[in-house]
Amino acid sequence: MKIAIVGLGYWGPNLLRNLVALQGPESVVIVEKSPARIAAIATQYPSLTCSTSLEQVLEDEEVEAVILATPVSTHAELALAALRAGRHVLVEKPLAASVADAVAVVECAEERNLVLMVGHTFLFSPRVELMAQYLADGSLGRIQYATSSRLNLGLHQRDIGVIWDLASHDFSILFHLLGESPVLVQTAGRGVVRKDNLDVAFITLTFPSGILASVDVSWLAPRKVRNTVLVGNRQMMVYDDLDNEGPVRIYDKGVVMPDPENFGEHQLTYRHGDMLVPFVSPREPLAQELCHFLDCINGAASLPCRSDGRFGLRVVEALEAAERSWREGGQVAVESTLPDPSSSPDLVRR
Ligand SMILES: NC(=O)c1ccc[n+]([C@@H]2O[C@H](COP(=O)([O-])OP(=O)(O)OC[C@H]3O[C@@H](n4cnc5c(N)ncnc54)[C@H](O)[C@@H]3O)[C@@H](O)[C@H]2O)c1
Repeated sequence: MKIAIVGLGYWGPNLLRNLVALQGPESVVIVEKSPARIAAIATQYPSLTCSTSLEQVLEDEEVEAVILATPVSTHAELALAALRAGRHVLVEKPLAASVADAVAVVECAEERNLVLMVGHTFLFSPRVELMAQYLADGSLGRIQYATSSRLNLGLHQRDIGVIWDLASHDFSILFHLLGESPVLVQTAGRGVVRKDNLDVAFITLTFPSGILASVDVSWLAPRKVRNTVLVGNRQMMVYDDLDNEGPVRIYDKGVVMPDPENFGEHQLTYRHGDMLVPFVSPREPLAQELCHFLDCINGAASLPCRSDGRFGLRVVEALEAAERSWREGGQVAVESTLPDPSSSPDLVRR
């Protein structure tokens, strides 16, 4: 299958490296509007076909799929162009720069029965997969709340603020693990370097089940932090993506409040048990993500697309609500923009 990768700036070369390893260079076409970037990539992969225009590449009927790694503000326009030309699309996160744009892309893919996948890379991380297993088998019990922090110095993006850049990761991880997306969001934040957009944000999410999550993101932090904590009523789980020795740790800890035996007698006790550091496969998430995209196209995926357009849309709905909460102040309801496909039989879902 011939695949085009559009955008070879910071992130695109990682997709390219993995795609070339999977497919071989002869089936990859690169599209990059900067001739200097093309020249840099061509020295590394001399046999790749290069172009400065997606439009031109879409004329090649052998190109069956397009991967977009361009700035977020360009996602909707380029994804729509590829989908309208009948190509399957993997678009980097977040799906689009607004809910309206994301809905248009999802509807376009569904109308044409094409694969639309969003590059929420962490969903393909063996570390997050392991966490999902622990949640599914009930080890943690009922989840009470979650926290997630993604802090570092930069990289400031020109077209989006820190919520759209970094919180898109935390949102995708939490929505995937919890199996639900929030109904309410509240954000406090500051635009320090550029007043019109955020460098640091503290976001509170309320999920339909009552689970609360706090997400902190910053481009203005002295140390890199990648930390997610899930607290269940049986056990607690810590995911530190920078800790290669033990990225996922399960703590058998909790608070026990037995029913009082006598009127007025409450005995609260803390339970301190073992800490488990399970083995996690070192497989690269991006390689898994690309394999899943190819499997979805070939109809070989055993499960539905893990990071499909509708999942990407849920993330964009929450991102937009989080930014609106900061701009307008107060709590904002997260609107669900497309009906569930099971309630609308006309929509074809892969
Ligand atoms: N999944 C992840 O973990 C992850 C990590 C980093 C970035 N990203 C995402 O990757 C995307 C790109 O981010 P980046 O940091 O690489 O940006 P970047 O600005 O470094 O690179 C974007 C590249 O796209 C090119 N480009 C822009 N418009 C184009 C067009 N119409 N045709 C061809 N080329 C075009 C630019 O010349 C540039 O080289 C963003 O959506 C970002 O959110 C994802």
